[in-house]
Amino acid sequence: MMIENKRVLVTGGAGFIGSNLVDELAKANCVVVLDNFSSGKKENVAHHLGNSSVEIINGDIRDKELVRSVTKGIDMIYHLAVQCLRVSIHDPEINHEVNATGTLNLCMAAHENKVQRFVYVSSSEVYGTALRAPMDENHPTEPTTVYGASKLAGQQYALAYHRTYGMQSMVVIPFNTYGPREHYEGAQGEVIPKFVLRALNDEPPVIFGDGAQTRDFTYVMDTVRGIMLASACDAMIGQTVNIARGEEVTIRAIAEKIYQMLSKAHLQPIIEKDRPGDVRRHFAGVEKAKRLFGFTAGIGIDEGLGRFMQWFTSQGYDLNRLMKEDVVFNWETKK
Ligand SMILES: NC(=O)c1ccc[n+]([C@@H]2O[C@H](COP(=O)([O-])OP(=O)(O)OC[C@H]3O[C@@H](n4cnc5c(N)ncnc54)[C@H](O)[C@@H]3O)[C@@H](O)[C@H]2O)c1
Repeated sequence: MMIENKRVLVTGGAGFIGSNLVDELAKANCVVVLDNFSSGKKENVAHHLGNSSVEIINGDIRDKELVRSVTKGIDMIYHLAVQCLRVSIHDPEINHEVNATGTLNLCMAAHENKVQRFVYVSSSEVYGTALRAPMDENHPTEPTTVYGASKLAGQQYALAYHRTYGMQSMVVIPFNTYGPREHYEGAQGEVIPKFVLRALNDEPPVIFGDGAQTRDFTYVMDTVRGIMLASACDAMIGQTVNIARGEEVTIRAIAEKIYQMLSKAHLQPIIEKDRPGDVRRHFAGVEKAKRLFGFTAGIGIDEGLGRFMQWFTSQGYDLNRLMKEDVVFNWETKK
């Protein structure tokens, strides 16, 4: 199916990955963004104001009536709205309500309004830590966090709607994604922007645990391209697929790379206690995406980090103020 001249709904379209996806979809489609701006930012979508092919709705996927009315006349849904992993550690209930119940709301409304295709953007956190590597789509799903469990519930709802009602649902599973518009702030902040912010302020990196935990980092433009290719692929209906680079890298190595690139390698990491439920190893199997729709992630970690740092430093942020506002999250006191 061609993703052109469609009316598409992007939930979480003001967020990090969602807003990058909206930029691509808006080139050939009418896009409706549904976002409650809890972590999403107006500045991520501000350039679409006045663009008649992008409509931005400030609303909540937990609002059943709203979801029912917003999905009328929609051809495709890309569902990305989420409460993040770090929130799940101190507020599991909101994670469940948004990530699981919110997804069920969307499935019910999509079915009722005969939406053609439903693309659920899941997360590698559904797998838990690698029991074998690389982790293909048949890897057991043993999430370590409530976030991972709620994302697993969401993806199972999407697939159940295919099996029960024939809805054209599919599940795309990105591994850790980084790049422009990624969160750097407070508990929402992700590891790469946090390292960059600290390095630019001459502060050492803070690592939770021994730093030997691995992630499969994928640049956001690759992730978005993967989501779009998957969503256009008819063989993906009723299927799950990983979207990742297919390379594991330790958190310590990421810190070293960033600090070297910014000539701050002399700053030695501060080691904090493990984050509860932290996955030890993530290394994606990427063969299925290649086989079904010819996707491989093209941007390597060094190039991606370079591009991200260039973007971050061009934003005119007051780095000193951001650093003062930054928190090193204490998982026990939840502050
Ligand atoms: N960032 C990653 O590394 C990564 C990795 C794997 C999967 N994912 C998945 O990609 C998707 C997007 O993640 P992201 O990193 O862009 O997160 P994000 O926090 O930047 O985006 C989530 C968006 O959802 C919105 N939102 C939250 N609750 C809502 C609600 N109740 N109603 C409407 N909107 C709501 C937020 O305001 C935000 O704009 C998520 O589904 C996430 O599970 C992300």
